[in-house]
Amino acid sequence: MLKNRDKINIYEIEDHFINKYNYKPEVIVQSPGRINIMGEHTDYNEGYVLPAAIDHYMFIAVSKNQCDVVNIYSIDYDESYSLNLKEAVKRGDVSWANLIIGVVKSLLSKIGGIDLAFGGNIPEGAGVSSSAALCCGIAYALSELFNLKLEKWEMVKIAQKSEHEFALVQCGIMDQFACLFGITNHVLLLDCKTLTFQASEIDITGYKFILVNSNVKHNLKDSEYNSRKSESAKALEILKQSNLKVKSYQDVSLSMLDNMRSEMPDMVWKRAYHIVSDNKRVHQITDELKSRNYEKAGELLNEGHFSEKNFYEITCEETDFIVNELNRSKTVLGARQVGGGFGGCVLALVKDVNVNEVIDKAAINYKKVFSLTLDHIPVNISQGCHRIF
Ligand code: GLA
Repeated sequence: MLKNRDKINIYEIEDHFINKYNYKPEVIVQSPGRINIMGEHTDYNEGYVLPAAIDHYMFIAVSKNQCDVVNIYSIDYDESYSLNLKEAVKRGDVSWANLIIGVVKSLLSKIGGIDLAFGGNIPEGAGVSSSAALCCGIAYALSELFNLKLEKWEMVKIAQKSEHEFALVQCGIMDQFACLFGITNHVLLLDCKTLTFQASEIDITGYKFILVNSNVKHNLKDSEYNSRKSESAKALEILKQSNLKVKSYQDVSLSMLDNMRSEMPDMVWKRAYHIVSDNKRVHQITDELKSRNYEKAGELLNEGHFSEKNFYEITCEETDFIVNELNRSKTVLGARQVGGGFGGCVLALVKDVNVNEVIDKAAINYKKVFSLTLDHIPVNISQGCHRIF
């Protein structure tokens, strides 16, 4: 169980390290979570996404310990884990440790023993990528500590590999990319096929993005995620067979899909429809945000949620309820569930007035219906993973 989660901040990480190991850390890294403004489940489908790093972080403090042991201390769980580098490095049964072991394994030939402490304030299991923040932060910290000079894209790949092989989630590349490449006040439009991106500064004065945590953690989240991946791959196979010009989802248009409806199993068609329409929305919302057309950007968020609910089928009663509740207020321009799905956070674009009133009202109704708490998490778009000491 989380014991310290709310308490860790930039000032306390060093003290926690000293309390645990009785000396000062050599390196401290701050690694952010992310919001995704549009493009859900499109990353592993070679599509487009529009994420941004946020001001909620995982902090990692680390030092060399001159022996062959990796000592890890999770401040949030108040638990320790050790790994002997002379023995085979493999998955264990502690899930938070597995993410770190995966990164250590990738860098095994380049590093020695370390003492490490980490903790943060990114809500866990809330669709804002606390695990990517951890994996990227560990890769970044080890690169600094052992002077490995890893490129950002190398760290992205190492962090993603750890999720694939040690957390057993076949995630795409968006979270790790946003964590490492984030720029303050910029949204990042990533083409997940070419891995090229465009950063756009957005000035949303008078408006803001907020996260509303449903506090729902779906047990089958990881297996459902993996099955969406194979369903969308299957849809692409059918599309490729019927049209030789189709090499990836980027070659598929909505009208092409309309014509194919009767030739594909309904579920598979719906998966494809979500991906192709969300890819389009990524570009549309980027333009609307850049031209400060917030009403339209809000409508696109609502459309995105509708598509997640009805076509990709990754929402749940609770997040659907929150999106509806929020939209009852004129302060809210639009909202949608973010991240892998089946719970977690709803991202809303709101006018920068009386937001608390709106959330409080929604929270009362939410509690009545689901007996769950609804948390409001203010977010600012922040700088990507970097060394702070
Ligand atoms: C998780 C994955 C990402 C992405 C999102 C859904 O956050 O880690 O790669 O697929 O879900 O958009």
